Amino acid sequence: MSFPEHRSRRLRGSAAMRRLIAETHLAVSDFIYPMFISERITKPVPVESMPGMYNLPLDNAIDEAVRVYELGIPAVLLFGIPAEKDADGSVSLRADGIIQQAVARIKSNVPELLVVTDVCLCEYTEHGHCGIIRENDIDNDATIDVLAQQAVSHAKAGADMVAPSDMMDGRVGKIRSALDSAGFTSVPIMSYAAKYCSAFYGPFRDAAGSAPKFGDRQTYQMDIANSREALKEIAQDIEEGADIVMVKPALAYLDIIHQAKQKFDVPVAAYNVSGEYTMVKLAVEKNIADERRLTLEILTAIKRAGADIIISYHAPDVAKWLAEG
Ligand code: PBG
Repeated sequence: MSFPEHRSRRLRGSAAMRRLIAETHLAVSDFIYPMFISERITKPVPVESMPGMYNLPLDNAIDEAVRVYELGIPAVLLFGIPAEKDADGSVSLRADGIIQQAVARIKSNVPELLVVTDVCLCEYTEHGHCGIIRENDIDNDATIDVLAQQAVSHAKAGADMVAPSDMMDGRVGKIRSALDSAGFTSVPIMSYAAKYCSAFYGPFRDAAGSAPKFGDRQTYQMDIANSREALKEIAQDIEEGADIVMVKPALAYLDIIHQAKQKFDVPVAAYNVSGEYTMVKLAVEKNIADERRLTLEILTAIKRAGADIIISYHAPDVAKWLAEG
């Protein structure tokens, strides 16, 4: 197999030939679009650190969900910003909480759009940690009880799928059995299975007002240095009942996405997180790259690595670009 009989460039000579042999194709059906819905505002408020993203009050969130559905995006992932927070995040359990209302209203306006809810405490606790704090430490087992109740309240509101993002031990199993006991045996769990303690979440914490007020998340999110541990976390979540497993962030963790895809027989989701999004937006603002090419290159790489599903703030733009061809 050597030159001159073999010339790789033969298959690169025209757009049609390149299309014919392309191994990876992005589709609008690959995407989940995250939305920030806030109880604190009456008009959309731009997220300063995420150009193009907004905190939305309920009414505008419904309009946005309609727009997303019309673009052909199959699902949204909802994050709630409550008017009030407390020590234990109990406001996250209210039947009339911001997420519960948002789910119900989106499902009644756009029933075919899949509504996925983020299950966590950091947006609801005054201290901003993803768990309940007792004696200056995260109380894992008290936290997973509340998360299980939260998941059930989302399902009651009509959520199509729940996505726990806290990284406490045992939460997938707890949530599965709570959903089952409450009659929601058919609501799947997409677990943030390998979620790293990453510097790429900065803009999200600004958007969701969820930065920890003290300390960091190193005792629950994964060490960026580890890959074997990611496979163990994923295996454990599948064992506990996760239907879809997620790797997060995406771009700096393509190796983890690849290994997850090779090793497990469940759909793999990758979260193209806020910091990855904002890096692209800032590079484009500075004329360092073409937005469409840079974004599609990153997302194609995430899919090529093995992601079946991509959660991305770029989803509406991608939908438009793919429709343009
Ligand atoms: C936490 C949560 C985070 C994100 C989604 N869910 C951030 C964190 O751990 O602080 C980050 C998403 C992003 O950066 O886009 N419940």
